[in-house]
Amino acid sequence: MFKLPENLLLGVATAATQIEGGDTNNSWYEWATIPGHIKDGTSPLRGNDHYNRVEQDIALMASMNIQIYRFGIEWSRIEPEEGVFDEKAIAHYRHELEILKRYKIKPLVTLHHFSNPVWFEKQGAFENPLSPMKFLTFVSYTVNALADLVDEWITINEPNIYTVNGYFFGTWPPGRKNDFRALKKVYANLAASHIASYLEIHRIRQERGFLPLSTKVGFANHLHVFSPLYKWNPLHRFSVKCMDTAFQDAITRAAMTGISRFPVKALPKKVGNISIVPGRYYDFIGINYYSRGAVSFLKDGLYPGVPLNDLNWEIYASGITEMAKRMYDEYLAPIYITENGTCDNTDSFRSRYIYDHLKQIVDSGLPIERYYHWTFMDNFEWAEGESACFGLVKVAYETQERTVRASGEFYSKIIEKKGVDQALFNEYVAHTSYNFEKR
Ligand code: BGC
Repeated sequence: MFKLPENLLLGVATAATQIEGGDTNNSWYEWATIPGHIKDGTSPLRGNDHYNRVEQDIALMASMNIQIYRFGIEWSRIEPEEGVFDEKAIAHYRHELEILKRYKIKPLVTLHHFSNPVWFEKQGAFENPLSPMKFLTFVSYTVNALADLVDEWITINEPNIYTVNGYFFGTWPPGRKNDFRALKKVYANLAASHIASYLEIHRIRQERGFLPLSTKVGFANHLHVFSPLYKWNPLHRFSVKCMDTAFQDAITRAAMTGISRFPVKALPKKVGNISIVPGRYYDFIGINYYSRGAVSFLKDGLYPGVPLNDLNWEIYASGITEMAKRMYDEYLAPIYITENGTCDNTDSFRSRYIYDHLKQIVDSGLPIERYYHWTFMDNFEWAEGESACFGLVKVAYETQERTVRASGEFYSKIIEKKGVDQALFNEYVAHTSYNFEKR
């Protein structure tokens, strides 16, 4: 059982491409048209039709007591062609922000969450040396247009997942396998894009008269616990070091401080007229946490007998605070859990998952100020398509009907009661259990 501390706010996170529907101008729409790319053959074109249902969806969120909401702006809608900006798209997001304000839900806005405008993808996306400048142009325009309604910003979601899936595994756009040359460049350009955006957002908000400390900017960093399969095996321990460095530590350092080390290429010295020099480019530590891996020789895997979600990811709740502590010790700033959640298609263990992760957070004593559950409603789960359900709210895609799951009810009651007492635990968690069989 636990009580939520006063300074910890609870909410949900989403991403534009995964929920909005109706956009044929982004890289994921194009990617999904090619057979074999998306497991169930679906496309983000349908999504949750959220673009047309913003009002109802936020009303539902408010009825679930959501305090904070992290959501994304679709770059391809704002800048459909290079240098051409769509005021209607801005008006849409302003309207969305006004609705949130009406319900007193505090927004955290993501500027880049995996998808690019088609024109940008065609120019080589973040492999292109001019990409940080092009991204910055979009950021300047958008932040100028929304600065009065948004204090808190995420520049880029999960630079590591974007890069590794796109340029190492080749399972995401642009679909390149083992392309280390590109990977190093993409890492560097993403880090520089984050830093330039960080500085630009602060500049714009200050110019508008907001106090510097009222603006919070960071990026959502996917962190994975890599553990040796056998602790006694030096090759496994060595492999953990390699994976930590290649997948998370180097890119984290580059984006947070401007200092690059292998495998991140040297960062560009300038983005437009912004100098990229070593510094502190975060107001909070943003962490997306999902799972742990058991590492053997240069291979990530699973420990035997661990609880698994429906995508066979280990459920390892203490990892959330292990990663938060690791980051806090190094970067010393308030922590936002910008994503945490699980694929549970039948909602049989999501409540337990939420309980276990929140309990870790509360018991840790770490300065964790936000928890954004991933995700509000089932959505287009990238290469898994519509087949993987992460939502507190179930979506019947054919009719777009939303139904709050038991775990959604549980989450809203945690917020209402500011914690979990025995009665709430008995009602939602006691009778549930994790699954230990692979699917
Ligand atoms: C991403 C989300 C995704 C979630 C679950 C995170 O890596 O930011 O967009 O849906 O994981 O896979």
